[in-house]
Amino acid sequence: MKTSAAWRWDETVAINRDFGDRAVVAAYDERHRKFRDIDGENAAILARLELKPGEVAADFGCGTGAFARAAARRCGTVYAIDLSAAMLDYVGWKAQEEGLANLVCRPGGFLTYAHEGPPFDVLHTSLALHHLPDFWKQQALERLAGMLKPGGRLHLMDVVFQAENREANIDAWIAAMAATGGAEVADSIRAHVAKEYSTFTWILEGLLARAGFRIDRAEHSGGVLAHYYGTKA
Ligand SMILES: C[S@@+](CC[C@H](N)C(=O)[O-])C[C@H]1O[C@@H](n2cnc3c(N)ncnc32)[C@H](O)[C@@H]1O
Repeated sequence: MKTSAAWRWDETVAINRDFGDRAVVAAYDERHRKFRDIDGENAAILARLELKPGEVAADFGCGTGAFARAAARRCGTVYAIDLSAAMLDYVGWKAQEEGLANLVCRPGGFLTYAHEGPPFDVLHTSLALHHLPDFWKQQALERLAGMLKPGGRLHLMDVVFQAENREANIDAWIAAMAATGGAEVADSIRAHVAKEYSTFTWILEGLLARAGFRIDRAEHSGGVLAHYYGTKA
């Protein structure tokens, strides 16, 4: 083992714990659709990114690939990238079923994926970067910047906390999720806050800037969710 490997983050831990199993993958969309308008979200993101025919896009930490599949209907090629083989199998199967020959599934993580192919015009990642602690988020964002063309566009969505009223915001979020999605969804939010690595807005904004992104637009919701639209400087 190289010396540096001894302190590298093992990004497969989250996958083996949460996303390694086919049954979990099958249940993922169903559970998320209880509290997210996934198709509406993706339509709004794609409109804001102004994805064009012929452009190359990536969905990093693609999960079941809802964004990648929507993007594939609008652009030249979409790379759906995820560490979980179970997730990618599902994306490949759905893409075939939907006749999306321009969707390419590639295994890989934020810290390990080595892109072979044209650099991306657009890179999207949602609800995935929080799997990494902040040191590793910085490494990941710099790697993502390296895969984008100069002037390439980034959309990053995740659980990100505003500092003000943080505890009250989290309680209100869990109550809202319990009301719309039920007890299981509320429990998954509690587990997220307790065990995952979502960070503060000011930290993530600093990480993005240091990775070479200009933040063009930020949308915050409930002090707990954020969308960042950026451009690689
Ligand atoms: C909560 S799901 C989000 C899926 C999808 N992007 C969405 O918005 O519904 C998180 C996804 O990130 C993937 N993931 C977790 N850690 C990762 C890493 N270090 N690199 C790449 N993907 C990762 C998981 O396998 C999973 O598919």
